[in-house]
Amino acid sequence: MSNIQEKVGQLIARREKAHLGGGQKRIDSQHAKGKFTARERIHMLLDEGSFEEFDMFVEHRCTNFGMEKEHYFGDGVVTGYGTVSGRLVYVFAQDFTVYGGSLSKTMSEKICKVMDMAMRNGAPIIGINDSGGARIQEGVDALAGYADIFQRNVMASGVVPQISAIFGPSAGGAVYSPALTDFVIMKKNSSYMFLTGPKVVKTVTGEDVTQEQLGGASMHTTKSGVAQFSIDTEEDGFELIRKLLSFMPQNNMEDAPLAVCNDPVDRLEDALNEIVPDSPNKPYDMYEVIRAVVDNGDFLEAHEAYAKNIITCFARFNGQSVGIIANQPKYMAGVLDINASRKAARFVRFCDSFNIPIVTFVDVPGFLPGTGQEYGGVITHGAKLLFAYCEATVPKVTVTLRKAYGGAYIVMSSKHIRGDVNYAWPTAEIAVMGSSGAVEVLYAKEIAALEGNPEERAKFIAEKEAEYVEKFSNPYQAAKYGYIDDIIEPRNTRFRVIRALQSLATKRLVNPAKKHSNIPL
Ligand code: HXC
Repeated sequence: MSNIQEKVGQLIARREKAHLGGGQKRIDSQHAKGKFTARERIHMLLDEGSFEEFDMFVEHRCTNFGMEKEHYFGDGVVTGYGTVSGRLVYVFAQDFTVYGGSLSKTMSEKICKVMDMAMRNGAPIIGINDSGGARIQEGVDALAGYADIFQRNVMASGVVPQISAIFGPSAGGAVYSPALTDFVIMKKNSSYMFLTGPKVVKTVTGEDVTQEQLGGASMHTTKSGVAQFSIDTEEDGFELIRKLLSFMPQNNMEDAPLAVCNDPVDRLEDALNEIVPDSPNKPYDMYEVIRAVVDNGDFLEAHEAYAKNIITCFARFNGQSVGIIANQPKYMAGVLDINASRKAARFVRFCDSFNIPIVTFVDVPGFLPGTGQEYGGVITHGAKLLFAYCEATVPKVTVTLRKAYGGAYIVMSSKHIRGDVNYAWPTAEIAVMGSSGAVEVLYAKEIAALEGNPEERAKFIAEKEAEYVEKFSNPYQAAKYGYIDDIIEPRNTRFRVIRALQSLATKRLVNPAKKHSNIPL
């Protein structure tokens, strides 16, 4: 055997060893839990044959607790780059077969390397998390490793899209890297994120709680809002990541890719002319509107199960990627509350960071009143959404379908906060408040005087409400002032939105130079 053959043989042998991570037994155990290994996951995510791995031979440098005697190539994470639908992405997948995917300093160096490359080369970074947290044997060095990653997460925010998949444990400080990224995807029933596990919770608060209850996918997508997506299988997770990426540009200097559109741009949807019920208190389903107007009825919703009173989703109009924010009258009458404001604000900011135009469908009765909301700081949280819309410089197209009352009218991408094209349906009601509330305030004295005569009182209120409706519950007053650019036939919404977006393709708007804004957090 020649010298070179021998060396190549050694390389192949080392590669084979590296591919086994923590060994076949641990790989089998990972499979037995219904989980894939780090490399399997990366191959499932990326285009076939596109993966280029870095740092396969990196080993930890720890000498505590007998660690110097135990080494695995790759040290608990597989990193590199490849393509998704032909587009470059950087990726890291924690390898649970090596010390439970726990984070060592060398492991963080590997992750930081691909993060740095992603930023330099302007490509998304995808992290697949499956880890027991900081590598206990490394002490503060492991914490330093986390900090290095967090710092890069923050520097990359708004520069390249960052997506986190949680396919196993993510405990302690490990949760903060995903939390700093743009989208978090969790696998149902086998992934969890929490700062302190059930045992610590029991000791400190006395609460009995399971891992799933404390930090499972269901909790985080419905209650905390920490994760935007939950999926049944890892395969579904990869499919979702690929779809999500298809709506995004590679970085903040580019536009999202244009898709081929075979859905006619001038498609009329007669059903939309009938969708808003006669009674202002009756709900309808905003999903039907979205489905009817976007290309092929296809959209991808973020935070579907959280704050259902507002919908945030990606879709396309004539092949162009947009972010849609829409009040959902079917859920809590589409009211804005703390959670809806936070959810929508973050989505608006993502879209604005990455040059994705925003289309807003409005049917909002206002902000949710009550001590629960006020004590929780609805003012600050509502201000987040207001801030996000005000700050956004991407094209903003707004369609008011029905109610647009009070502060919520202003917040939901109104003309006054730099909405570019603002349309209303003839069913729109743009006013300070709804008719019954308005009449109660305007005619408080007269109504009180009729206290002893319920019939007269009801008649009076009905008359005044009808007067108010006639005067204010329509889009014409706003149109008279130019706050609405045009009143459109509902069935023609798709065409009008597409035209508006086309006209805004060359929009130029720059905010004043500053270090950064101070969004009310
Ligand atoms: C070193 C670890 C480890 C860790 C797991 N392992 N977690 N090694 N540091 N943090 C090792 C185990 O010793 C085991 O090694 C292998 O990984 C698999 O672990 P198991 O316990 O056998 O697996 P499982 O039963 O599936 O349980 C997984 C687990 C559990 C729930 C994650 O291992 C666990 O509770 N680990 C500790 C979690 C934790 O408290 N982490 C620190 C959080 S604090 P062998 O050799 O048997 O395969 C933190 C601070 C960060 O992260 C702050 C940053 C700001």
